Amino acid sequence: MGARETDVYDVVGVGFGPSNLSLAVAIQEHNSSTSDRPLTAAFFERQEAFGWHRNMLLPAATMQIPFLKDIATFRNPASRYSFVAYLHASGRLAGFVNNQTFFPTRREFHQYLEWVAANFTDQVSYGSEVVGLRLSGQGAGAGAPAHLEVEVGGGAGRQRNSVRARNVVVSTGLVPRMPEGVLGDDRVWHSSEFLTRFRGLKPADLRAVAVVGAGQSAAEITRFVHDTAPHAQVYSVIPSYGYALADDTPFANQVFDPAAVDDYYFGTDRARQAFWDYHTNTNYSVVDDDVIRDLYRRSYDEQVNGARRLHFLNLTRVGEVKRAGDETRVLLMNGERRELEVDLCVFATGYHGMEPAGVLGDLAPYCLRDEAGRLRVERDYRLVTGPELPGGIYLQGGTEHTHGLSSSLLSNIAVRSGEIAESIVSRHRIERELEQALPVEPAGKAR
Ligand code: FDA
Ligand code: NAP
Repeated sequence: MGARETDVYDVVGVGFGPSNLSLAVAIQEHNSSTSDRPLTAAFFERQEAFGWHRNMLLPAATMQIPFLKDIATFRNPASRYSFVAYLHASGRLAGFVNNQTFFPTRREFHQYLEWVAANFTDQVSYGSEVVGLRLSGQGAGAGAPAHLEVEVGGGAGRQRNSVRARNVVVSTGLVPRMPEGVLGDDRVWHSSEFLTRFRGLKPADLRAVAVVGAGQSAAEITRFVHDTAPHAQVYSVIPSYGYALADDTPFANQVFDPAAVDDYYFGTDRARQAFWDYHTNTNYSVVDDDVIRDLYRRSYDEQVNGARRLHFLNLTRVGEVKRAGDETRVLLMNGERRELEVDLCVFATGYHGMEPAGVLGDLAPYCLRDEAGRLRVERDYRLVTGPELPGGIYLQGGTEHTHGLSSSLLSNIAVRSGEIAESIVSRHRIERELEQALPVEPAGKAR
């Protein structure tokens, strides 16, 4: 796509992962169901093509949501962009059903997302990183600035440019987290880099690999390395006594229901805290049952066979990594301190929530914050901004403090995207009605 600098878009999306893809679908479905002027939209994505956590598309990894929580169904069960529609179009609907699972592989879900994204190439600029927002031009009235301006950085032979927007929807995703003081390099990786890096070396040469963490990423990488590096001792460094189970039982799973967003948003401080106290184990530092059992069985089989290369170092954290030439020494802390020499250390140590400050750029001071310094967000995901800011800035992600546990997940994105599109439409309508209600000044009156 070529976003035209002269246009003013109703919506400019920063990032084109599943959240803003879902928004593109919601906007298209709104446009085709209204006689009003259609919403115009443009999206900017820094990757060169659509990709959803590509570096973790490990062969056996399955989704952690049922396929019905795709990017459209919960908002519009009749959408042509549902996972079921994708299966039908791919000739695999019967085959998928025969599998009798709610949870496709991440690879299949990725193909589904690519299939949807292929319908929106005219709206997306790939290889385009948004570097900041600012105010553009001066409006006619009282010197108010007219629009939001989205600045897009030049990369790989591209020039910097900017587009104007009435609304910006920021959806830049999770931010990889390394333990403090640990720096990545060619032998020290974060899980978010895993497959690209792993493809660059010969697995058969690996003699010792450490995987740090006890979440889903760590467990999946441990299993993958054990499968693919036949001569490697695999050390899984686990802060707990063993992997803890991800609670996906029905009552607990209600924390991801669309209704839970209201219960969180409008709840008391005590209610909000209860979500975290009781239900963090639905998502953070936990692992799916099948992966836990698979890893345990492998370990037990090795004990039976007397040839052990899968090791679980429990109650242990990594404090530091020392690098010198080809040598990588991992400092293990479990009451005592000891060093483990490895060829490779993968930190599956999780992510920080989405951080929009960088993208907000010049407009950050216009965005109001609460007593704890967190961005204030309306129920419709619009940032609370000073009155001098024209248009709206919306967040998809980074709203754990206001909208709860599903903020960084897929569970609620269909509904959330619909709510954002609806908010933009209804705010535009109110603005138009206000303009029409204002008294018309007699022609030629001096101002
Ligand atoms: P996402 O991170 O997917 O997309 C953000 C996009 O913005 C990226 O494509 C990025 O390149 C782009 N971007 C960033 N900064 C930019 C900038 N300045 N300019 C332009 N583009 C920019 N959740 C769940 O509910 N079920 C699941 O099964 C899983 N599985 C899963 C697996 C793995 C390995 C991880 C790490 C996470 C999950 N998740 C998950 C959680 C995950 O957050 C979720 O699946 C989605 O990625 C959220 O989609 P978003 O579009 O919000 O972010
Ligand atoms: P995570 O759940 O946040 O887990 C990070 C792990 O790293 C925790 O066990 C943490 O322990 C540990 N850790 C942090 N610092 C450490 C240190 N210095 N030493 C040892 N351990 C340390 O992160 P994640 O596993 O990447 O999961 C992130 C999200 O992605 C989740 O939503 C998850 O469900 C999702 N995901 C999904 C799939 C899939 O769909 N198949 C695959 C992977 C990930 P503490 O808690 O004690 O700090």
